[in-house]
Formats: sequence, structure tokens, C-alpha cells
Amino acid sequence: MKKDMLVSRIENGTVLDQIPASKSLMITRLLGLEDDPSFVAIAMRVKSKKMGTKDIIKIQGRELTSDELDALGLISPGVTYVIVKDYEVVSKRKVEIPSEVSGILRCINPTCVSNFREPIVPSFKIIESNPLLLRCDFCDRVMLEENVLAQFK
Ligand code: CTP
Ligand code: ZN
Repeated sequence: MKKDMLVSRIENGTVLDQIPASKSLMITRLLGLEDDPSFVAIAMRVKSKKMGTKDIIKIQGRELTSDELDALGLISPGVTYVIVKDYEVVSKRKVEIPSEVSGILRCINPTCVSNFREPIVPSFKIIESNPLLLRCDFCDRVMLEENVLAQFK
């Protein structure tokens, strides 16, 4: 079956394609799509020539912020980020591991100032990409990939 027969094309917004099968629900939580009023379509285990099976997420009516793209690059580098305008694909690129992230991840140190002072936006530097290691800009706590993934389980 052609994937467009499964989930219709969107007029404006975002398509995340080439998502490794089973990562779409985690990405849904990372992007807060449960609470997003936009139309959201999630297709899981779509047949793909390159990947065997893949997941696809379509968000009608909005693009991703740079903070969202960075956080997405942490948990699922290699996803294809597609922007659609008037039904046409206007840009398409692979999401990469960022050098820093802010605003979406939380520090795992319970006493970190970024966890309890409202105006502070948590931010982290990526020290190593494989295996993933990040450092909190506020308390220097080092976090591992499992600490990141656990926040979107
Ligand atoms: N898409 C969409 N709505 C549109 C245009 C495109 O939902 N108006 C989706 C397509 O279904 C596809 C992705 O955006 O999942 C990329 O579109 P396109 O480049 O046209 O698809 P393909 O050529 O199949 O891309 P690829 O070779 O990367 O699989
Ligand atoms: Zn911290």
C-alpha cells in the first residue's frame, strides 16, 4: 500500500518521516502533541524500502521550533523533517544531533536551580554523541541517554 493512501497529504505543516519503527510515541510526547490542538496523524510500521518499516508523524498547521528540533535530534537523529506549504514539500532535511539543547529536557538533579526557579530555562551542552552524554549548564550534572529517554517514556 502506498503510504499516502494510509494518511492523507497535508496542506500546511510538518511531516516527520523515516522515524525508526516504535519511536513515534516517544516523539509525540517530546513534542507535546497530546495537548496540541493541531491535527496530528501518526502512522506506525509503514513499509519502507530503506528501513523495512518506519513511523511517520504529520502535524497540520505548524512547524517545529528550533528547541524542538534540537531535542528531537537527541532522541532520534536521522529523522527526516519535512515542511509542507500549500500541499508542496518546501524543505526536507535530516535532523542531526545538536551541540546544545534548551527548554524541553529537564535536569535530573532534583536540587538544580533550573528545576525550581520559574524563569530559568533548562539547557545542556552535548559532550558526546555516541554514547550520548550531556552536561547541565546550571549544575554541571552529567546525563546519559537513558536519563533523556526516560523523560519521554
Ligand atoms: N507529504 C504530506 N503532505 C504533502 C506533501 C508531502 O504529508 N502535501 C508527506 C509525504 O507523504 C511524505 C513526506 O511528506 O511522507 C515527503 O514527501 P515527498 O518528498 O513528496 O515524498 P517521497 O518522495 O516519498 O519522500 P521520500 O523519498 O523521502 O520517502
Ligand atoms: Zn542541573
